[in-house]
Amino acid sequence: MTLPSKVKIVEVGPRDGLQNEKETIPADIKITLVDQLSAAGFVNIEAASFVSPKWVPQMATSTEVMAGITRRPGVIYSALTPNMKGFDAALAAGIDEVVIFGAASEAFSQKNINCSIAESIERFRDVALAAKQHNKRLRAAVSCAFGCPYQGEVSLASVADVVARLRDLGCDEIDIADTIGVATPNKVAPVMDAAARVFHLDGLSGHFHDTYGQALANIYASLEVGVTIYHASVAGLGGCPYAKGATGNVATEDVLYMMQGLGIETGIDLDAVVDAGQFISRHLGRKAVSRAGNAIAAKRASA
Ligand code: HMG
Ligand code: MG
Repeated sequence: MTLPSKVKIVEVGPRDGLQNEKETIPADIKITLVDQLSAAGFVNIEAASFVSPKWVPQMATSTEVMAGITRRPGVIYSALTPNMKGFDAALAAGIDEVVIFGAASEAFSQKNINCSIAESIERFRDVALAAKQHNKRLRAAVSCAFGCPYQGEVSLASVADVVARLRDLGCDEIDIADTIGVATPNKVAPVMDAAARVFHLDGLSGHFHDTYGQALANIYASLEVGVTIYHASVAGLGGCPYAKGATGNVATEDVLYMMQGLGIETGIDLDAVVDAGQFISRHLGRKAVSRAGNAIAAKRASA
């Protein structure tokens, strides 16, 4: 099987990684993190989230973060925008790519964004139109594509249905998300194939949380079906506040290490990402949740 020779890694640590932290992280720490990541070579960084601060207090500093970072030419800075209030704030903050986020599970849609899937698509329609008017990239996330913390099984038909509805809104990219990290590699091809029947494969991304330790294996399985965009979180930070027990995304350092070993080009400097992971982990007062990151840091320390 021929794997892709090149992939795009979207760094989601500053958003998905930090959104669930209980202690407020000062904006200047987030700014330093985003700047370290852009210097490491990412072309797309999910840096902010313009959601209700009552729902996700940690993201309340998003405007400040975007105002404080050093914009690196060529880097796409993205943010979650669930509705027009979020879109307007994202526009004012100079976001390049807005992310609408829906779900393949009705139960999760209600818990996460307080509306049904059908209602969410109607809300997103306004955001999508505004994004086009302002020449912003439009991305969509499909949560619970592999299983839901509230409803359990999610059918392939539900995934394909929501992907098709998001496609019709004019999305440039659609993220197939394993919100609670329950997928195993044999589940990957059926879900990705179902999505690829309604949306171009090169616009699909794999967004794998690592709750059950399957994320790298699931990425490998996605490479085998030709997916070329992956989300990852520096130091393995994260978890979704509306998916209890779900841990962070797959650690970026681990993904980069695997891609390097497979000879797949990412354009990203692994050593610089290890530094960013150690920096934010020091601030949070705990060890990074990245096997490769910690191994590289330990090797450096003993050299
Ligand atoms: P709602 O309560 O139904 O909204 O929440 P509302 O329109 O009735 O507004 C209620 C209040 O929120 C009002 O304020 C609004 O102004 C305010 P009040 O009058 O009470 O003072 N409000 C906002 N404030 C700031 N920014 C906004 C905004 N919108 C309304 N954009 C809403 C609906 C969608 C806003 C809410 O449910 C929400 O913010 N949810 C976000 C949940 C979230 O961020 N979850 C985590 C991210 S998703 C994720 O992690 C999954 C992903 O990684 C993929 C995966 O792994 O699955 C993407
Ligand atoms: Mg996520």
